[in-house]
Amino acid sequence: MTAPTSTKPAPARNRWSRLVWLVPAAILVLAAVVLAAKGLRELPAVQSFLTAYPGESELPHGAPVGFPAWLGWQHFLNSLLILLIIRSGWQVRTTTRPPAYFTRNNTGPIKTRGKPAKISLHLWFHLSLDALWVLNGAVFYVLLFATGQWMRIVPTNWDVFPHAASAALQYASLNWPVENGWANYNSLQVLAYFTTVFIAAPLAIITGLRMSGAWPKDAGRLNRAYPIELARAIHLPVMFYFTAFIIVHITLVLATGALRNLNHMYAARDDTGWAGFAIFAASLAVMTAAWILAKPIFLRPIASLTGKVTR
Ligand code: HEM
Ligand code: HEM
Repeated sequence: MTAPTSTKPAPARNRWSRLVWLVPAAILVLAAVVLAAKGLRELPAVQSFLTAYPGESELPHGAPVGFPAWLGWQHFLNSLLILLIIRSGWQVRTTTRPPAYFTRNNTGPIKTRGKPAKISLHLWFHLSLDALWVLNGAVFYVLLFATGQWMRIVPTNWDVFPHAASAALQYASLNWPVENGWANYNSLQVLAYFTTVFIAAPLAIITGLRMSGAWPKDAGRLNRAYPIELARAIHLPVMFYFTAFIIVHITLVLATGALRNLNHMYAARDDTGWAGFAIFAASLAVMTAAWILAKPIFLRPIASLTGKVTR
């Protein structure tokens, strides 16, 4: 029974029955998009556009070819951390009675005025993972720019946009662009990777910091210009962006020559053997174990190292 004063949204059942319509609607829209794209590709003007812009922007001179091993490690750690970050963030949002609370020992570099804030164990886990994720990302940025590897995921020519439009049309018409990821990503990939690494990740950090105890509480003018509500309104959609990117990304990795793609990222080689797949499978096992072990019973003792855990 809901109390009459409750302002909760409609019961979940109603929401789901409304969502059921989305499935046939989405199928219809997809079918229409495919038919339209196929139709467009019959037009001579579109055909000459596709010839002029096959989908891949040329890399600058001296761009590296292939995938170094460090990139594979970075990418794996990023995947592991972001999986747990999304889960813990979602738990922060949806849990009304946290399993435990954490209060930091007041010895760290970041002193809130007076007593340190008491946060849920979920938020403690979220913030701890964030610290590791930012560290991993910082190493990634440094190596990316130190090795020239950045050129593969940062657009360096405006023609990336017509090439991306061309690649999108090729995907939509179900006649997919030629795979050449070892040497050069297609322009739609470049834009997606660039957005993820250089827009979504910094946005998650700057909005997450704003909501955290590390942000100065008494920075009057700054906090009026950048209110916490704004950060909260951006942080959640950024998570939805990451989730959507990851779903599409993994689907395309597996649908466009899985063994070869997995070799690129997990075995730093460009053939169609099973090495990359084996390492990928092992990485999935690690991620599954981490998912299972990330429970209060295991997190409590770790959290206790730097603070007090209470019910
Ligand atoms: C465990 C699931 C994942 C698999 C199997 C996977 C696989 C891959 C593969 C095979 C490539 C190279 C593509 C090619 O050769 O054409 C790649 C690149 C990339 N992936 Fe993933 N990925 C996964 C998760 C993620 C996640 C969670 C993110 C970020 C949130 C991500 C971000 C990227 C980025 C930014 C690149 C380009 C990296 C560069 O070249 O510098 N991936 N991924
Ligand atoms: C340095 C990076 C990050 C920091 C410092 C951070 C910090 C925070 C903080 C302090 C909260 C609690 C907000 C509150 O009390 O209401 C939160 C919530 C959340 N975080 Fe993060 N976060 C970071 C990265 C991420 C990333 C990368 C994702 C997902 C891709 C994510 C997903 C979420 C979600 C879904 C919530 C719940 C939001 C809500 O209740 O509306 N966070 N984060």
